[in-house]
Amino acid sequence: MAKITTIERLGRHEGEKVTLRGWIHRRTSKGKLHFVQLRDGTGYAQCVLFKAGVDPELFEAVGAAGQESSVELTGEVIADERAPGGFELKVSAGRVLQSVHDFPITPKEHGTDFLLARRHLWMRSKRQWAVLRIRDAVITALRSFFDERGFLCVDSPMFTPSACEGTSTLFEVDYFEGEKAYLTQSGQLYAEASAMAFGKVYCFGPTFRAEKSKTRRHLTEFWMLEPEVAFADLDEIMQLAEEMLVHVVKRVLERRRTELETLGRDLSKLECIQGGFPRITYDEASEILVRHPDSDFDPGDDFGAADETILSNMYEQPLMITRYPKEVKAFYMKEDASNPGKVLCVDILAPEGRGEIIGGSQREENLDVLLAAVEKHELPREDFEWYFDLRRFGSVPHSGFGLGLERTVGWICGIEHIREAAPFPRMMTRIRP
Ligand code: 4AD
Ligand code: MG
Repeated sequence: MAKITTIERLGRHEGEKVTLRGWIHRRTSKGKLHFVQLRDGTGYAQCVLFKAGVDPELFEAVGAAGQESSVELTGEVIADERAPGGFELKVSAGRVLQSVHDFPITPKEHGTDFLLARRHLWMRSKRQWAVLRIRDAVITALRSFFDERGFLCVDSPMFTPSACEGTSTLFEVDYFEGEKAYLTQSGQLYAEASAMAFGKVYCFGPTFRAEKSKTRRHLTEFWMLEPEVAFADLDEIMQLAEEMLVHVVKRVLERRRTELETLGRDLSKLECIQGGFPRITYDEASEILVRHPDSDFDPGDDFGAADETILSNMYEQPLMITRYPKEVKAFYMKEDASNPGKVLCVDILAPEGRGEIIGGSQREENLDVLLAAVEKHELPREDFEWYFDLRRFGSVPHSGFGLGLERTVGWICGIEHIREAAPFPRMMTRIRP
């Protein structure tokens, strides 16, 4: 019996006989030869069948099998510089598990709607394979970064009784006995409770925004990683965010180079993410925009997507913008004592014109100031009583941020729309499949 292995590990078996199990990605046949480009989820490998080297039934079955037919192929692993991955399989035995012929996604160009409606099959294509494997490496790198620094993963609930990031983007759910619940917009408020219990924590899970925006940066369901650190100020979590992004990019370059190359990503744009991120204030960013011919920015407003594109195009590394006006930010942010009207917050914009991937702040730790903010934002005070307890019992300065996973993956992959960075993207106009 030949050993069963995967394409990713093929190089460790040079000269040995192994079995690969997967699907036919492409096949070209020339009389007495079949070249099968096999995919097994871990990679792509060329498998060669000589008519004289295999059973006639197998040769015929492979010759009749279309794209996405499932197969098991056994043969010797041969080093070949010309083969993608450097190795190919010289097939001596095998079987076709299911022979198929009408796989709807072919090498020709398809429209995005066509592909999105077939996301369950589209994810098998090479580009999607690359993106989703990079997403996996980003997740692993994020978790290892926080784990190595002594953070505890404490997750926040998805059903919540109240808003965290403004009331206009809440998804309402019928809970029990007439009670309304909302899908969480952010795990932050609960992460603050966890930070008071465990010191350094993060939560990582799905978050939901009923955003009526159809931009390439918005999903209605996306994953957010949110660290929260007791005793940390704004500068400390900015430093943390910078080290985290440097770590993630470095790991992806180490572990997913083939996938980045598959996407045609310019690696030099990632290799320069080394730390020392530029830092400017909201006021400095406003001045830049006011003078910019392509911007219709009004000072005092939040930055729009077009403004973020201008700003993030100016630097090679992610750009940190601090101290936004209180009015455009969430109720929990702490005012900057030396800069009244501004809050101790940071938005981090990914380079190459991509825009915000991280939003964070120092939190207001004074109960009375927080009570006034909840009132000003017209939030229901009774739903926040538990949150006020955090300011009643051992309140300390603390800070945190939220990183949008799909936007981060979209930037690292260099893809146009973040919908490709989610396995099954949820948008205003699509919840199927
Ligand atoms: O800036 P946001 O709204 O910040 C918060 O939710 C804070 N409570 C986080 C914290 O301090 N713990 O969202 C954080 C990030 C954004 O920078 C962006 O990357 C992502 O979440 N994000 C979205 N990603 C995809 N689709 C959307 N509709 C998104 N809205 C926010
Ligand atoms: Mg934000």
